[in-house]
Amino acid sequence: MATIEVDDIKGMQTPAFDPLRTPYEVENMPFPREGSLQEQFTHLVRYAILAPSSHNTQPWMFRLFENGVAVYADYTRRLPVADPDNRELLMGVGAAIMNLRIAAIHFGFDVRVDYNFSGDSELPIAFVSLSPSLHSHGDEKIEKLFGAISRRHTNRHPFLAARVADVMMERYREAGEESEASIFISTDPKRNAAVAELVAYAGRLQQADPEFRKELGEWLRPNKTQKPDGMTGASFGIGDIPSAVVPWAVKSLDMGGMRAKHDERLCREAPALLVLYSEDSIPAWLGVGETLEGILLGLTRDGLQFSFFNMPIEIPEARLQLKEMLGLGMWPQLLLRIGYSMEQPVPSPRRPVEDCIIR
Ligand SMILES: Cc1cc2nc3c(=O)[nH]c(=O)nc-3n(C[C@H](O)[C@H](O)[C@H](O)COP(=O)(O)O)c2cc1C
Repeated sequence: MATIEVDDIKGMQTPAFDPLRTPYEVENMPFPREGSLQEQFTHLVRYAILAPSSHNTQPWMFRLFENGVAVYADYTRRLPVADPDNRELLMGVGAAIMNLRIAAIHFGFDVRVDYNFSGDSELPIAFVSLSPSLHSHGDEKIEKLFGAISRRHTNRHPFLAARVADVMMERYREAGEESEASIFISTDPKRNAAVAELVAYAGRLQQADPEFRKELGEWLRPNKTQKPDGMTGASFGIGDIPSAVVPWAVKSLDMGGMRAKHDERLCREAPALLVLYSEDSIPAWLGVGETLEGILLGLTRDGLQFSFFNMPIEIPEARLQLKEMLGLGMWPQLLLRIGYSMEQPVPSPRRPVEDCIIR
């Protein structure tokens, strides 16, 4: 009888988890239709954790129940310097909830989200009730957004001058109509140049603060990282070798002038800027996060790229200036540029789904 050689067994091992690749291969994993509810809900959480978050902190945890998934904000992953009020943290959680909603509808569940705004970090911030749907789904809009979840990445490369069609812009503007967030889109070069100046000003202020740079440096990673969170040099267009020294360089040196010039140009040259604005409250921030992810998936579906310029929103005085400059009735929460790019964005690391589920 043939014996199994050790090498053969090795060859059969499942490939090691790669935080830059494995989480995005979720599309190749079949939905466990015959599996337990726990397996099915775990599969949905695989989509939730592909959501964007500030510095890629992934500030979320999930607990699985028979009737749905409890979502927790993970305040151990907060950014005390850049985000002292947990405003952006909660937007990340809102974005993850949006992915969970979309994936659940795609796989045939009826979904209801009940938020809990008590601010008690021991309690889930939302409960996503899931029940098998009695009517067939096949909502075209949901299907298109679902297909974009694992392809959505922040793209910090330069964008082409090509304008974005008005009909598309109208669709993104409409995304705010039934949500907590309102949307302002600017394609006016003069106005965009003024916003770009504010981005550069706020960026310089942040980079001059050693505490800000220390915090940022903690979340920067070399390109070949095995760490499952944070931002790689590659996501900023930095090569493999220099990416190894970027965390040290950011912590040690004020490169704010150079960075600000670069960001100002990217912002000024973008064909369109998009601002999400709302009241300042926990419900509003979660709602902005949900709306944000809906928009980002729509952009991805349409072949458009995006990146964030949140610096002026993180500095109170610049935030007020941005609000007044754009004539917004409420507070700006997120500033994005949108457009087309010749360069494809790279995926950012993600934690294994098992590490995001409370047992
Ligand atoms: C609320 C929020 C604020 C963000 N602010 C910035 C920002 O100011 N600058 C930036 O380059 N990226 C920003 N990002 C993008 C994150 O860095 C990015 O989502 C994260 O690194 C994961 O990468 P991915 O979007 O490609 O999955 C922000 C994301 C969120 C959700």
